Parts: sequence; C-alpha cells; structure tokens
Amino acid sequence: MTTRHLLDIADFTAGEIRQILDLAAKPPAALGRPLEGKGAALIFEKPSNRTRHSMEMAVFHLGGHPVYTRGEEVGIDVREPADDIVKILQGYHHVIAARVFQHSLLERMAAVATATEGVPIVNMLSDHSHPLQALADTLTMEAAFGPLAGRRIAWVGDYNNVARSLGEIGALLGAHLAFACPDGFGPDPGELERFVVLGAASAEYHVKAVEAVAGADAVHADTWVSMGQEDEKAARVQAFEGFTVDEALMSAAAPSAVFMHCMPAYRGLEVTAEVMDGPQSRVFQQGHARLPAARGALAFVLGVRP
Ligand code: CP
Ligand code: NVA
Repeated sequence: MTTRHLLDIADFTAGEIRQILDLAAKPPAALGRPLEGKGAALIFEKPSNRTRHSMEMAVFHLGGHPVYTRGEEVGIDVREPADDIVKILQGYHHVIAARVFQHSLLERMAAVATATEGVPIVNMLSDHSHPLQALADTLTMEAAFGPLAGRRIAWVGDYNNVARSLGEIGALLGAHLAFACPDGFGPDPGELERFVVLGAASAEYHVKAVEAVAGADAVHADTWVSMGQEDEKAARVQAFEGFTVDEALMSAAAPSAVFMHCMPAYRGLEVTAEVMDGPQSRVFQQGHARLPAARGALAFVLGVRP
C-alpha cells in the first residue's frame, strides 16, 4: 500500500476529510490501537503548546509512545541530511510528524518515506499550511452550527498557513469563503480560483474587514506575526491597522456567529479581549478540538477507517 502522508488538507478528497472528521468524533477506544507498541517521532523546529500536547496525547490514545525532539537537536540538513533522518526514524517509529519552517522539507521527507515504503509524514505546521488546525477548526464549527456547506467563513488578517488550510477544508466541504487582508497580505487570485475548483460555494477577497465579515457564521483570526516573522513585527502591526476583530466588527456577522482563533492570541492586536473572552468566542473549544483532530488524522494515515 502506498504510504499516505498528511502535508495539506487538499491532498485529500472531501470524502476522506469526512472520514478523518468521523474518526475524530469517535471515542479513543473505538479507533483500536494502531500504534500499539510503536513509536511516533514528533520533531519541532518552532515552539508549540497545543500541537505538541494534542499530538502526544493522541499517540498515547492510539497505543503508541511519542518521542518529542527539538529541531536543533535533530539538526535536519545540518547535523545530517533529512533523507538519513527519515530512513533512520522509520526504523523506530510508525509515524513521523514535524513542525518546520519550510514546507519543502516536509515534501522531501514524504518523498523519502514513499520511496522506501516507509511511514506517514505529518505536517504539524509549516510556513505554507497547518492541516491539523483546520481539522480542529472544522470540528469546532460543526459543533457550533452543523455542516459547513453553504455557511460563510470569514478570515480577518494575514493570509497565512492557518488561513490556507482553513480555506482548503472550507472549500472541500462547500462553504463560502471570505478573506479580509491588507493589500499585499491577501491570497493570490489563483488561490481563490483553486478554492472554487476544490468545491467552495464562493471565494472572495476584501481589503475591508467588514465586507468579509458581513453575514459570516464564523469569524477567524490569527496572529499578524507568525513564528519566524518576529523581525517584521513593527511593520506588520502598522500594516494590519483596521484588521482587529472587535465587537463592532463582530456585529456585522450573523447574530449567532462564532469567533475563532488557533492561538496563541495577542489581545489588543488581532482581537480585542472582549471578543476573545466574550460569549461568541469558541477559542478554547477549538484548542481542545486539536486532540480529537490529531487522533482522527493519525488513525487515518495509519489505515484506520470509520
Ligand atoms: N494552534 C497551534 O498550533 O498552537 P501551538 O503553536 O501552541 O501548537
Ligand atoms: N500563523 C501562526 C500559527 C501559530 C499556531 C504561526 O505560524 O506562527
């Protein structure tokens, strides 16, 4: 069987994403123990709270043993080539997951694993995408208002890794997508076309936040300064002025709309404390959904089906 990796949401069909979400919804015992007696390598080139903890616990729920390693300790392409690392680690582990700066590194790791009939490679966030987050976002939105088909999902801020994966899953599940980003920080027109081809009911880009949020069922935000962009902080804070999600902006969304944020969040920048900690916020449910999302994703790439 060809090794199945999880690098991007769009690597999967809508039906497969539904299967992952269905696996996520099951109690851990219903998934069997596909990692019984096996290891899972979790390599982090960047800091993490939610991803590390949810992945470690998901591996535990599936019967396995997680081995956390910091990127500088492994020294990918510094201490030894990524190819050698993958070929060694897959002798110990049944899955290799990595949080990396460059998405191309994950692609190279996946190519080595495929060529050697090795183990699945899982993206725990790259500069390009954050598929595990999108799965948790979807579980949270479905808990709030049911299927995404026909719903309006608004994104306010930087068109980044989290936005791209959210766009892909929203598209596959038939949602309307509306991105509001400052000029120069939005999706390319090709991205919007790609979302429509994937199945989005519509895909829009606005430079005014209120236009994207109008009538939305979910309003998503993320930091304006992603990990690795710290040097750009001052310029970004200036560029994103007017893109703070506050109560006035939320009032343009549907009355039942939820506010979502992958976290870590910076109150007073991309979101006010009133919204982040207010009645429409689902951010802690969203954070907690990372655990079933990780479990469903790992079970799927390990061959479990609902
Ligand atoms: N949302 C998310 O991935 O959080 P961490 O960076 O804390 O893992
Ligand atoms: N866009 C953020 C997400 C953090 C979970 C980053 O890449 O830092």
